[in-house]
Amino acid sequence: MYIIGGSASLSISKDLSNQLQVPLAETIAERFPDGEIYVRILDDISGDDVIIVQTTYPDKNIIELLLLKEASRESGAKSITVVAPYFGYARQDKKFQNGEPISAKLMAQLVSISAKKILTVDPHKEHILNFFPINAQSCTAIPELATFLKKKNVDMVLAPDKGALARAKQTSRIIDCDFDFMEKTRIDGSTVEIKPKNLETKGNNVAIIDDIISTGDTMAKSILELKKQGTNKIFVSCTHGLFAGDAIKNLKNAGCDEIISTDTIISEFSKVKVTPCIIKKLKTKSN
Ligand code: R5P
Repeated sequence: MYIIGGSASLSISKDLSNQLQVPLAETIAERFPDGEIYVRILDDISGDDVIIVQTTYPDKNIIELLLLKEASRESGAKSITVVAPYFGYARQDKKFQNGEPISAKLMAQLVSISAKKILTVDPHKEHILNFFPINAQSCTAIPELATFLKKKNVDMVLAPDKGALARAKQTSRIIDCDFDFMEKTRIDGSTVEIKPKNLETKGNNVAIIDDIISTGDTMAKSILELKKQGTNKIFVSCTHGLFAGDAIKNLKNAGCDEIISTDTIISEFSKVKVTPCIIKKLKTKSN
């Protein structure tokens, strides 16, 4: 067996290789002057099961993943498992308006080409796993995030909207604290409205948890509301830190005390590793 690391997920690939004691294949990934990518697997993987690890964000990493799968197939790999720590395009999981694609479905089909199985971490909605024509599974980084947050003396965990309440509840159970949700309405792709709600957080430390932080508007508006209520420390946490545009600046300006994300997308805020949940799932017998 070999682990094949895509450029977007090299540190997770190394962690998996070390912890599973499976060699990390030697690969080349280079950009041509026009931006197209060239990949090559240097080890002889013929007859071996391979696990290709690659986050599908930003878009260029999708192409690299497709090429790594094709290189594995051409090299005679016995089977291909894809680990996509962050699976992009999952938020377009249905047609919200006429004329739209179901982007998550197309991406699922592409990622499934030549593969036997796919594993991802905290997909935006679990039902997107049904879009894959192959064995598709997910695992969650919530226990790892909660264990990190527990050290911060958090008194309450908040979901930024009711749809994310289960995540906040699971986190709060591990921390052993209260949980609640905020009233969020999405205005457009980069703007949300958080309605005032009495949460009794005065003087308390609060962690807000979400699957994704993109523009940071959801978190920034939540922070501003919590500040109005006299909340003491505010930690914002997520599995997938996209941090688009001025997200970090906006979170800091809103009064965030700490930003915490996992390493599904590498940034200076990747304080929590997702390798434990990936390994646990890969080792599950029923797989
Ligand atoms: C949406 O349903 C997701 O769970 C996140 O709340 C959303 O993607 C966050 O986006 P932003 O950071 O741009 O507000």
